[in-house]
Amino acid sequence: MTIMLTGGTGYIGSHVAATLLSTGQPIVCFDNLANSDASVIDRLEAITGASVPLVVGDIRDGQALRQAMTDHAVTAVIHFAGLKAVGESVAEPMKYYNNNVGGTLSLVEAMADCGAKTLVFSSSATVYGQPQYLPLDEDHPTSATNPYGRTKLMIEEMLADIAAADPAWRIAILRYFNPVGAHDSGLIGENPNGIPNNLMPFITRVAAGRLAELSVFGADYDTPDGTGVRDYIHVLDLADGHVVALDAIGQAEPALSTWNLGTGQGYSVLDMVKAFERVNGVSIPYRIAPRRDGDVASCYASPERAARELGWTASRDLDAMCASSWRFEQTLAMRNSA
Ligand code: NAD
Ligand code: UFG
Repeated sequence: MTIMLTGGTGYIGSHVAATLLSTGQPIVCFDNLANSDASVIDRLEAITGASVPLVVGDIRDGQALRQAMTDHAVTAVIHFAGLKAVGESVAEPMKYYNNNVGGTLSLVEAMADCGAKTLVFSSSATVYGQPQYLPLDEDHPTSATNPYGRTKLMIEEMLADIAAADPAWRIAILRYFNPVGAHDSGLIGENPNGIPNNLMPFITRVAAGRLAELSVFGADYDTPDGTGVRDYIHVLDLADGHVVALDAIGQAEPALSTWNLGTGQGYSVLDMVKAFERVNGVSIPYRIAPRRDGDVASCYASPERAARELGWTASRDLDAMCASSWRFEQTLAMRNSA
């Protein structure tokens, strides 16, 4: 049983790859390298000692997908491949609908053709829109405030229709909260191109002196210190969530299940800055800047359903998230200067 990881060389996909390989699970990564680098495969091989097949291809290319699924005897897919920059999705919506929605349709068609009807999909807490209550459970109404979020919602709805039409499908929709942190080896982590949109990679680059200071987007929210509160989850806890979800859908009804992957704990932007400084003994200069369009004050999960149904809870704390993020940034700096 080989598992295909679309987007397997990206940030989350590479950590799930490392976790699966550590259990001896055969995988194949399928990625067009639009936001990643093939050298991730060398580092995955160094971490795990396993050989890691990579097919460089686009999920919108159904023939390439079918070929890879046949060549590698794929029985299940974890689908990370997608574009994820909210601002870019507002500026270039067609690119997002084409890549994310069109790409997922092409993927499920290829899976159906190859008789591989087990799918784990990377969704996002963004599908909850403006929170109507907290913590966010899976029954919270869904909505979207930008094209990126709308692609996630459309894909969730498409997958629900597919599962309803053919109960042979086994589908898990995983709604991630805010993944941060890196593998303990420091060899894989989050390394976005250009200036990071997300908080943690911005903080690590300020700590490394690659960026001068952090802009804290708003200090006048209705939160304990006025800055935005999020549910940061260690990427290795997130990876464990994929393994148990895949196992669970293989065994039980119904054809489609949806789980939040979060910790249930919210931290503010300033909590994150202070924790990073304390854990790593570095200083993060920051200034208070205007609010960022589209941001909500607070967003954190109820992880109860995943705990109850999957027996999964996040175990790594904020200190581990900050330490591993910084280790990855330092390892990256050493690699770049070598
Ligand atoms: P990432 O950009 O690091 O990884 C995505 C990978 O998909 C990249 O390697 C990219 O090259 C590849 N890809 C994109 N389009 C492709 C295509 N058409 N064909 C083949 N490969 C393609 O992003 P990530 O942070 O690892 O996110 C993975 C998934 O999780 C995405 O679907 C994202 O929307 C979702 N997600 C991420 C977050 C987060 O904060 N990182 C939060 C919620 C949901
Ligand atoms: N922030 C700053 N300065 C920065 C970057 C972020 O103050 O330079 C603040 C934001 O305003 C927010 C918090 O840090 O309060 C977290 O922001 P991120 O951009 O890291 O994360 P978001 O919660 O905005 O969004 C992330 C992903 C989305 C996903 C969402 C929910 O980017 O794709 O989590 O899972 F939908």
